[in-house]
Amino acid sequence: MSTSLLSNDAPVGIFDSGVGGLSILRHIRAQLPHEHLVYVADSGFAPYGDKPEDVVAERSLAIARFLVAKGAKALVVACNTATVSAVRLMRTRFPALAIVGVEPGLKPAAAASRNGKVGVLATERTLAGAKFLKLRDEIAQASGAHFLLQPCQGLADQIEFGELDSSATVGMLKRYIAPLLAQGADTLVLGCTHYPLVQASIEQVIAACGVRDVALIDTGEAVARQLGRLLEAGGLLRAFDPALPARVEGWTSASATALSAAFNSLVGIDPPVEETDFAGFYTAGHI
Ligand code: DGL
Repeated sequence: MSTSLLSNDAPVGIFDSGVGGLSILRHIRAQLPHEHLVYVADSGFAPYGDKPEDVVAERSLAIARFLVAKGAKALVVACNTATVSAVRLMRTRFPALAIVGVEPGLKPAAAASRNGKVGVLATERTLAGAKFLKLRDEIAQASGAHFLLQPCQGLADQIEFGELDSSATVGMLKRYIAPLLAQGADTLVLGCTHYPLVQASIEQVIAACGVRDVALIDTGEAVARQLGRLLEAGGLLRAFDPALPARVEGWTSASATALSAAFNSLVGIDPPVEETDFAGFYTAGHI
C-alpha cells in the first residue's frame, strides 16, 4: 500500500517530442506490464532538438502539467533533449512525483569501448546542454574515454515521418556515422530516443562502412528499471489485476492517425489516441 496520496492504480505519464519515446515505452511495458500508461507525443511541436532550451523547458512543463492532470503517479521524460533542458525544473515543480529522465549512455559506452573512442549521436540541443557537457566531462575524466559528438540534424524528423529505412534516412545516417567510424569509434551512443527505432538502418550503415563489432548503446532498458525502482520505493507499483488489465492511451499535438499507426508498427498495440494542443497547460494554475 502506498503511504502517499498517489494511488497505485494511477498511470505512469511518458512524453517525448514525438514517437521516439515509444522506444522507451516498449521497455516499460516489458518490465512493468501491469502499469497503466499515458503516452504524449508532442509531434506538432517537434523537433525539440533545434529549439532554444527555454522553449523546450516551457513546453515540457506544460506537458508535465497535462500528465499530472491525467492523474500520473510518475513521469518519464522519454526524451534526451527535454531531460537536458527541463528535468531539474520539473523536479522542483513536482517534488512529490517520481520523475525519470533519459540521458545519453556515456558511462555504459565508456565501459563497452575497447579503444576509448565513443561516438555520440544526439540532437544539437542535447549536445549543447550544460547538463550533458558536465556529464561528458565527468565520464571522460573518470574513464579516459574520448567522446566524439555528432549532432544529427533532421534525423528525428525522418523518423517522425515513418522513414525508418528509406534511402534518404540511410544516406543521412551514413553522413553522420561514417566520419565517427573513420576516427576509430568502436562504440556509438544512441543519444536520442528516436534513434533506437532506426537501429536496423544504423547497423546496415556500419556494415556498409566495412567496420565490425561496433557496440550500440541505448539506455531504454535502464530507464524502465529506474522507473520500477522508484515506483517500488514509493510503494506505488501496480499489482496484476485480472479484472482490470493495464491500459495504454496516447495523446498527440499532431495527427491521432499518425500516432495510432506508430503504436501499431513500433509497439504492436492499438490504444485509444486523442489530439490536444496543451494550450491550457501553460500556466502554473494547472499544477
Ligand atoms: N526524442 C528526442 C530526444 O531523445 C528528440 C527529438 C527531437 O529533436 O525532437 O532527444
